[in-house]
Amino acid sequence: MKDKNVMEKPVDCILVIFGASGDLTNRKLIPAIFELQNQNLLPNKFVVLGVGRTEMTDDSFRKKMEEGVRNFSSEKDFNNDTLQQFIKKLNYVSINTENVSDFEILKRKLESLNLDHQIGGNYLFYLATPPILYEQIAENLGAVGLQKEGDGFRRLILEKPFGYDLTSAIKLNLKLHESFNEEQIYRIDHYLGKETVQNLLVTRFANGIFEPLWNRNYVQHVEITSAESIGVENRGGYYDSAGALRDMVQNHLLQMVGLTAMEPPSTFDSNSIRNETLKIFQSLRPFKEEDIDKYVIRGQYISSKVKGENITGYRNEKGVNPKSRTETFVAIKFYIDNWRWGGVPFYIRAGKRLPTRVTEIVIHFKPTPHYLFSLEEQDNSSNQLIIRIQPDEGILLKFGMKVPGAGFKVKNVNMDFHYSDLSNVHVPGAYERLLYDAMVGDSTLYTRADAVEAAWKFVEPIQKAWENNHNIKIHGYPAGTWGPDIADDLIKEDKTWRYPCKNLADDGNYCEL
Ligand code: BG6
Repeated sequence: MKDKNVMEKPVDCILVIFGASGDLTNRKLIPAIFELQNQNLLPNKFVVLGVGRTEMTDDSFRKKMEEGVRNFSSEKDFNNDTLQQFIKKLNYVSINTENVSDFEILKRKLESLNLDHQIGGNYLFYLATPPILYEQIAENLGAVGLQKEGDGFRRLILEKPFGYDLTSAIKLNLKLHESFNEEQIYRIDHYLGKETVQNLLVTRFANGIFEPLWNRNYVQHVEITSAESIGVENRGGYYDSAGALRDMVQNHLLQMVGLTAMEPPSTFDSNSIRNETLKIFQSLRPFKEEDIDKYVIRGQYISSKVKGENITGYRNEKGVNPKSRTETFVAIKFYIDNWRWGGVPFYIRAGKRLPTRVTEIVIHFKPTPHYLFSLEEQDNSSNQLIIRIQPDEGILLKFGMKVPGAGFKVKNVNMDFHYSDLSNVHVPGAYERLLYDAMVGDSTLYTRADAVEAAWKFVEPIQKAWENNHNIKIHGYPAGTWGPDIADDLIKEDKTWRYPCKNLADDGNYCEL
């Protein structure tokens, strides 16, 4: 097994990107691959083959990607020769992916690149296309034998969404498995590629001090927030058919729940870790459709003024149905039915057009059994461990200290660590990390078929209740606020959500870790 602690160069390979003329390729993938080159983490022999319907020559593809690197690379200070050297690795072929005979063209192109560059037959296929094409592309790759491993490895990488409900997710998995086996499939959840999400594993399992407290005996409740200040931007069409539950909760938020709540794996290999997160998804207490109103709050942003600027309401966004009932905010309270977490409420929320962009996991510890001192700040009486996923990545522990002077006044103070303090260390972006892992064949940070299905199973009753019961309200909230007020009632028993930033709609403007 590969040692995960050592970053070595992957073996030679060709990365085939379907959907090469799309935004994802140009904004995320190519800049991430360029960054891997800068870190000396690309294989010695490496070629990218862009595949798309748009007719383009290698040269015009290279020009477009060069622009992508210039505009979107995290590295601003690169030298031009390095970029030119990189651009030469990019090639392009135009095919119609719905047409199986076109895959023969692709196969021949790959054979010739493989021969010219002496790659050794290792191919990764990255589906950066609309999800509707996934099944067809996988089937067509299979039809021309491109999935068959023999001379080299064959891997299929795909992006969420993996289906839009449980039934479609099962169907997609079955279809993919007709051509590829599970070990060849790499399903991206880009949150797992975030350095701070991975750091959760290290925080929990490399330190002796947290794990003994990480359970129902000491934890009052767990809170996970993923807030975005942006709206749906130019993705109104997609978003209106998805909504926050499908777009963020089923995948990113539940993955964070999995890593926060899982048991320590016995080894650090990909299946041991993924088996443990799967067990968490399988232990999520299923909702009854009739209880959804009690445990799930959905909201939709309405127009408002934020710092003097008029913000468009969701229903007036481009591509959105003016009568849309799609949620742009969701908050859920649930339980994990196992020994570690029995009785501990988990609260998660995700939303667009909230006051700030922040993703964080907060472990709220139980208060001391008997309190001796008076509190200066009543609400912050118990300890919190805050794992800040983004931005200002870091970890913070809130605990009580004596206010200097007479008496015994207690004030909560922060003990904190910021990733930015490690100024000389390169923190890889999510795509950089995930692409590298796929090249070296490490699927730890990729989602397995069974986990995808288990997560859909958990959200299914919510989807069904919203579909079937039109009395379940969708609450409006002014853009720039923390979602509908009623979301506060959900967490009332355990005090309040953590608000790392004031509402902006009333021109509050301050953020803290
Ligand atoms: C994507 C969602 O998966 O994650 C987007 O489709 C969302 O709607 C994005 O904006 C958030 O990712 P990040 O990395 O910016 O938190």
